[in-house]
Amino acid sequence: MGAVTRVLGIETSCDETSAAILTGSGDDVTLDSLVILSQDVHRIFGGVVPELASRQHLTAVVPVVQRALVDADAVLADIDAVAVTHAPGLVGALLVGVSFAKALAFGRGIPCVGVHHMEGHLFATVLEHPRAVPPFIALLVSGGHTLLLDVSAWGQYRLLGRTRDDAAGEAFDKVAKMIQLPYPGGPHVEKLAANGDPTRFHFSRPMLRRNQQHGDDDFYDVSFSGLKTAVLRAVRAGTPDDFPDIARGFHDALVDTLVEKTARAVEHCGRTRVVLGGGVAGNRTLATAMRSRMDRLRTEVYAPSARLASDNAAMIARAGLFHFEQGERAPLDLNAFASYPLPGLVSA
Ligand code: KG4
Ligand code: ZN
Repeated sequence: MGAVTRVLGIETSCDETSAAILTGSGDDVTLDSLVILSQDVHRIFGGVVPELASRQHLTAVVPVVQRALVDADAVLADIDAVAVTHAPGLVGALLVGVSFAKALAFGRGIPCVGVHHMEGHLFATVLEHPRAVPPFIALLVSGGHTLLLDVSAWGQYRLLGRTRDDAAGEAFDKVAKMIQLPYPGGPHVEKLAANGDPTRFHFSRPMLRRNQQHGDDDFYDVSFSGLKTAVLRAVRAGTPDDFPDIARGFHDALVDTLVEKTARAVEHCGRTRVVLGGGVAGNRTLATAMRSRMDRLRTEVYAPSARLASDNAAMIARAGLFHFEQGERAPLDLNAFASYPLPGLVSA
């Protein structure tokens, strides 16, 4: 085992202020603490209000980091490096974490590492499942992104497919709004759909044509805007009594699509592991459907708990440790970006 590093991770890209401390080397890592403060204020607006998010990060970031230190039984002097989400996300929100992390690292004379939020999601599952290491197929499904990746090694990501329009989580949130469920809608839609009749609403599976072939540019891509429109039509034609059945029809169509695209990736890339990440990966119905499909392909499925699926600093610290060990150091002018390419990404 190489030198052990203690990393403080910070995540402020959206509406969670989070800090975590982990200790380790390579894939031998222990999570010492994780604090996630979810900003409740956005619920009353039905979506994240960027200005409010930034201000709440500003008041929360210091106590959240202090709490993470206390929970880890550590003091600042024990920290070897700071890892912070610097993209993608709400720029004002990201800037709070980035400015804090740079100031702390500079003041203490320790390195700072910038982490891409989606790469963080890729590293979340291994914190709970030690076998969720490359090579594997990754399905990252969050509120802003839907990515299907072939991961040959940490830091080497081949983009197989992505959404052409809405992200999976975004589709959940929009459908939730249509059927009068609170924000964020994913868990509410999942719960309501579980009570729905699966035979009443059969929505067509987006981007799953029978005659699709490997090499077609929509073989791995997904699209959820047509599904969303079909749901809206059903909502307008129905009554609230139909909502559980509509939710079920939507849920089944979305899950089928994600499972089928992932199965294609497993078969064509010859992988035997699937790792799920991002807020939607906390959906138990998706994980169960993925497992029963992958059983037939003799492929293991690793899904994070809901706590590690959604935004958290443990995954940022974990991805940060990898980049730190690669010798990466953020310059003092590390900036925040609303969108940013995934590092190590190759399209082919
Ligand atoms: O990864 P995440 O916490 O934040 C982003 O990076 O976007 O993902 C948030 C998304 C939201 O759209 C939320 O509705 C969805 O994840 N989500 C779920 C579930 N839990 C959270 N979607 C479906 N089923 C769930 N159980
Ligand atoms: Zn996220």
